[in-house]
Amino acid sequence: MKIKTLEWKKNQLILLDQTKLPLQEAYVTCTTYQDVATAIRTMVVRGAPAIGLAASFGMVLGAWQARARDSQSFCREMEKVARTLADTRPTAVNLIWAVERLQRVMNEQMPQGLTKVKQAMQREALRIQKEDIQANQNMGKLGQILVPDGSTILTHCNAGALATAGYGTALGVIRAAREAGKRIHVFVDETRPLLQGARLTAWELTRERIPCTLITDNMAGALMAQGKIHLAIVGADRIAANGDVANKIGTYSVAFLCHGHQIPFYVAAPTSTIDLFVKQGDAIPIEQRAEWEVNTLQGRRLAPRGMKAFNPAFDITPHRFIRAIITEKGIIQRPFQRNIKKIFFSQKETEGKSGP
Ligand code: MRU
Repeated sequence: MKIKTLEWKKNQLILLDQTKLPLQEAYVTCTTYQDVATAIRTMVVRGAPAIGLAASFGMVLGAWQARARDSQSFCREMEKVARTLADTRPTAVNLIWAVERLQRVMNEQMPQGLTKVKQAMQREALRIQKEDIQANQNMGKLGQILVPDGSTILTHCNAGALATAGYGTALGVIRAAREAGKRIHVFVDETRPLLQGARLTAWELTRERIPCTLITDNMAGALMAQGKIHLAIVGADRIAANGDVANKIGTYSVAFLCHGHQIPFYVAAPTSTIDLFVKQGDAIPIEQRAEWEVNTLQGRRLAPRGMKAFNPAFDITPHRFIRAIITEKGIIQRPFQRNIKKIFFSQKETEGKSGP
């Protein structure tokens, strides 16, 4: 059965509540842009492409909610909507990318009148949804070539259908390898503190009967030392111009371990995750989340009361630990700085735009 992470239906955004998985398949209905902002902040919807897509429908809801009758006051209202959505989570560039894309359509369509603007914005959000699925399928087709038959793969967090409009990035590559008839086995990092691996990746893989085993985050090194992992594939929240990657906290440790054991470490992400305005990883803003996520587990306190906790949601993997970046436009090899630019500019040229 297809996973419906996010659906636009009768002018409402229906989200599969990822905080409740895998025990409950519940849905949250967003009728305002504020609902969407809350859903992103509380991680009802999560994963870089999925929050970008949710934010674009948030822009559409904001446009329909606007009371303005003239273009100037409409733009002012939409500025507030855009800011609210863009400020929900700072690391994934897909969020800002999607909001800006909707703003561009809004400005372009303004001479046609506000009703036409709102309709065009809705069409654009639906286009982003379609493009994301297509991009993931392309990524899968290209990336599965890197997965040898009979391999065991480590993944961290959830970069699957739940984190995107469908099919997934890192899990898209794994799905495509499986569809190509390869015998694979996936080791799933549980991914503390919020357990996206144990709850979400495990849910996706078991539903599709892709052979998999759950491990705690501190087990990967031992498995690698025993030769039990042949490659690692993860997603990304933002990729800097030099190839440094921001992804779920713990990704850096996996990449470092892969480097030490000479195991290929791959990143799969759409080109919308590449931020050419950010030169290197240390300039990517890292979201800090609440302490309770660390000192509790599924609502139960782990640490003594008053214990301080550190909770950065993401870390930076330096490009030197990455074997290749799989995008929908092609597999980017080293040197990343040059090859990222190449792929990005050839994409921009075909769109008739120029990049930074
Ligand atoms: O905090 P999350 O669950 O939104 O973090 C998600 C990740 O880190 C994913 O690996 C990343 O967004 C890529 S999703 C295709």
